[in-house]
Amino acid sequence: PHIEGADPKRNPLDAFRVAIAEQINKALPEVKLQAAFEAVQTTAKDGDLVVALPRFKLKAKPDELAKKVLEQFKPNAYMESLAHKGVFLNYMLPTTTLTQLTLATIDALSRSAPDANGIRKMSYGTNKSGEGKRMIVEFSSPNIAKPFHAGHLRSTIIGAFLANLYEANGWYVERWNYLGDWGKQFGLLAVAWKKMGSEEELRKDAVTHLYNIYVAINKEAEENPDLHTQARAFFKKMEDGDEEAVGLWRKFRDLSIKKYEQTYARLNIHFDVYSGESQVRKESIQEVVEKLRESPYCEREDNGALLIDLKKYKLEKAIVERSDGTPLYITRDLGEANQRWAKFKEQHGKGFDKMIYVVASQQDLHLGQFFKVLELLGYDYADPKEGRLQHINFGMVLGMSTRKGTAVFLDHILDETKENMHDVMRKNADKYEQIIDKERTADIVGMTAVKIQDMTGRRGNNYNFDWSRMLSFEGDTGPYLQYNHVRLCSVERRVAETDGIELPPSPLDISQLKLDLLTEPKARDLTLLLASWPDTVKTATREQQPSTIVQYCYKLTHAVSSAWEVLIVKGQEKDLALARLFMYRSARHVLNAALRLLTIEPLDRM
Ligand code: ARG
Repeated sequence: PHIEGADPKRNPLDAFRVAIAEQINKALPEVKLQAAFEAVQTTAKDGDLVVALPRFKLKAKPDELAKKVLEQFKPNAYMESLAHKGVFLNYMLPTTTLTQLTLATIDALSRSAPDANGIRKMSYGTNKSGEGKRMIVEFSSPNIAKPFHAGHLRSTIIGAFLANLYEANGWYVERWNYLGDWGKQFGLLAVAWKKMGSEEELRKDAVTHLYNIYVAINKEAEENPDLHTQARAFFKKMEDGDEEAVGLWRKFRDLSIKKYEQTYARLNIHFDVYSGESQVRKESIQEVVEKLRESPYCEREDNGALLIDLKKYKLEKAIVERSDGTPLYITRDLGEANQRWAKFKEQHGKGFDKMIYVVASQQDLHLGQFFKVLELLGYDYADPKEGRLQHINFGMVLGMSTRKGTAVFLDHILDETKENMHDVMRKNADKYEQIIDKERTADIVGMTAVKIQDMTGRRGNNYNFDWSRMLSFEGDTGPYLQYNHVRLCSVERRVAETDGIELPPSPLDISQLKLDLLTEPKARDLTLLLASWPDTVKTATREQQPSTIVQYCYKLTHAVSSAWEVLIVKGQEKDLALARLFMYRSARHVLNAALRLLTIEPLDRM
C-alpha cells in the first residue's frame, strides 16, 4: 500500500517508519497506515524512533493501546526492541540494518552533480515534497547610492539559504532582488554626477562611488538649496521618460548591478531577476490606485493624499498616494506583486504557489499593510487562507562596525573579515604554509564565519556581531565547521599514504565492505545522526529556520569529533579501517551537503 511522503530510497528512516507503521496498524487496525507512519518521530532519548499514542485520538487509554502493540511485537530486521513509557512507544533499531541502509543510501545518492547553486538535486537530504510547485524568494534588495546595512546582510544570507532549502524540497525557485533604484534621490545623484562624478571611479566600483558622491552632494545641498530644485527637475525628467535622464540613471543602475553581482558571486549567491522599484510599470501602479480609489476602505485626506484605514485589522493606516499624485513605497510593492503574479501566469500557465519576502522586522508593519491591502482589493493570490504570501523577518545585528569605523558596504565587511581570518590563520605557521591558495581560503573561512554567526540563533533574535568569537576555530563557529570538513577530507588521504588503504570512489559496491564491524556506540550515534539528515531538512523547511541546519551541523561535528578518538582508522586491520573510512566519508557527504545548503563552500584543505 502506498504511504504518502514515504521515500525509503532517499530517507533511510522512512524504511523503519514503514515497518513500525505496519506493526502498529496490525496491532491497532483503527490506526491507518498513513497516520501511523506520520506519527513516527526521531527523538534524543529513550528510543531511536518514538510514537506518541495520543496522536491517534483513540478512546482507549494509552496504556491499553501500548499493551496491544507490545503483545503483537516481534523483532525483525527493522525493529530490535519496543518499550513503553508514559504515552510513548519507544522503538530501538537494529544497528546492522541502520548502518547498512544509512551508509548505502548516502553513498548511492552522492553521485549526482551539483547545480548552479551547489545543490545536488537528487542528493541525500533532498525530497520531492515540493515537486511541481513554484515560488519566488525575494531577498537582499539593497538601495543604490545608500549604505548596505546589517538588514541587507541578513536578508542576503537568510534569503539565499531559504531559496536553497526550498530547492532541496523539490520546488522550482526564482531568486529575486528588489532594488531601491527609483525616487527623488536619483535626481540629486544626477546633480552630484555632473558636479563631481568620475567615469573611472564609476567603472571601478559604482556602488561605492555613487554612495560617496551622494553623501557629498547632500552636504552641499544643506548650504545650497538650489541643488534640490535641480534634483527635482531631473527626477521629473526621469519620470517623464526623457531619454538622456533615463540613460544616465540606467548607467548607474547597470554598473551598480554589475558590482553587486561580483559581491554576491564572492558569497556564492546569485539572482535570477534584478527587479526593483523602478521596474514597477506606470499601468500597474495606476491599476491598484484606481482600485484603491473605489475601495470602501480608502479616503482622501484634506490635503489630497489617499489613505487606507486598517484599524480594523490592528494595523496603522497607510498612505497609498501622495497629495501630488505620486506613488509611495507601498504603492510600488502592490504593483510589483501583481506584475510578478502575471509574469508567472504567463510563463508557467499558473501563478506562484508561494512568494517569500525576506525583510527585517523593522518592516513588519509595511509588509503587514501591503499584504492586507492586496487582500482587501480582492486579489485572489493574496487570500491569506492560501498562505501564498509570506514575510520572513529577522532581528537586528548589534555592533556591526569595522576597524576603520562603521561598515557601509558588504565588501568592506567581507574584506575586514578576510583580513582578520588571515591573521588568525597565520598564527598556526605549520598549517598555514600548507595552504595552497591562502587568500581564497581566508576569504571563504571568513565568509563562513559571518554566515554561520548569522544563522546560529533563531532568525527572529538580535545578535552581537562579535569578531573574535565568530573567527575562532573553537566553539560553535563557522571556522570550526570548515575545520571539521577539512579533517574528514584528509583522513582518506592520510590513511592512503601511511597504510596504503584506499576506499574506491563513490558510489561503490558496499557488499565488499564489512559494515557489521561498526558496532561501537559512537559509530551508532553518528550513523543515527546521519540517518536523520533528511528529516532535519524537512524540519528546517517547516520552521523556516536556518538555525535548525546550523545546529544539526554542530551536532554532527561534535559526534565526528568524539568518534575520532575511539574509532581510529590508522593502523587498523584492513576491513575495519575500510568500514570506518566509509562511515567518515558518509559524514563528509552530509556535512558537505549541509554547508552547501547554508550557501557555504566546503573546503578540502585549510
Ligand atoms: N530596499 C528596501 C530597503 O532597503 C527593502 C525592500 C524590501 N522588499 C520589498 N518588497 N519592499 O529597506
